[in-house]
Amino acid sequence: MKLAVFASGSGSNFQAIAEAIQKGQLEAEIGLLFCDKKTAHVLQRAAALQIPAVTFSPKDFPSKVQYEQEILRLLEENEIELVVLAGYMRIIGATLLARFANRMINIHPSLLPAFPGIHGIQDAFEAGVAETGVTIHYVDAGVDTGPIIAQEKINITTEDTLATLTEKIHTIEHRLYPTVLQKLITTQKERAIDDEKKSLN
Ligand code: GRF
Repeated sequence: MKLAVFASGSGSNFQAIAEAIQKGQLEAEIGLLFCDKKTAHVLQRAAALQIPAVTFSPKDFPSKVQYEQEILRLLEENEIELVVLAGYMRIIGATLLARFANRMINIHPSLLPAFPGIHGIQDAFEAGVAETGVTIHYVDAGVDTGPIIAQEKINITTEDTLATLTEKIHTIEHRLYPTVLQKLITTQKERAIDDEKKSLN
């Protein structure tokens, strides 16, 4: 499966996915890293991993529609089958959604629908809830609202600080994202085999 990863920041999830592929744990290829911030650390990770990366921002275009049309052109040129958002800090617009509906997933550091938005870990910590976690979901037009694919819970202990909780959440993310991606790929393969069998009958 040919993936595009979209990221805006550090890129530790991008790296975890790339390493799972290298280790043979994930039957995929990252055809493209797209980054909307020219100074983001994820670009250095892509260079080190020799993964093709493209960076531009909405400010480089007259409108968000044109920005997304250019992304779409890149996705089609690179024959991307699944878009994997990993810390991409923008809302996906109608242009991309229309073409990649059901083929775009996101990871969020809380148990959605609780604590959507950009401070998912901090918001859960400050709310004093007993547990939080990680959610992987399909992307729709809302902020962290699409259909949920997988979730993993973690207890927040009295010893936890925001820093320790953040580290624990990231550790889960780096294991869960490649695992869920592989499950999606396996399911899709099985469906393709079933369809082929049906067409032969
Ligand atoms: C992750 O916590 C992810 O859940 C959220 O943004 C963060 C990205 O981290 N959407 P990184 O750039 O992958 O290190």
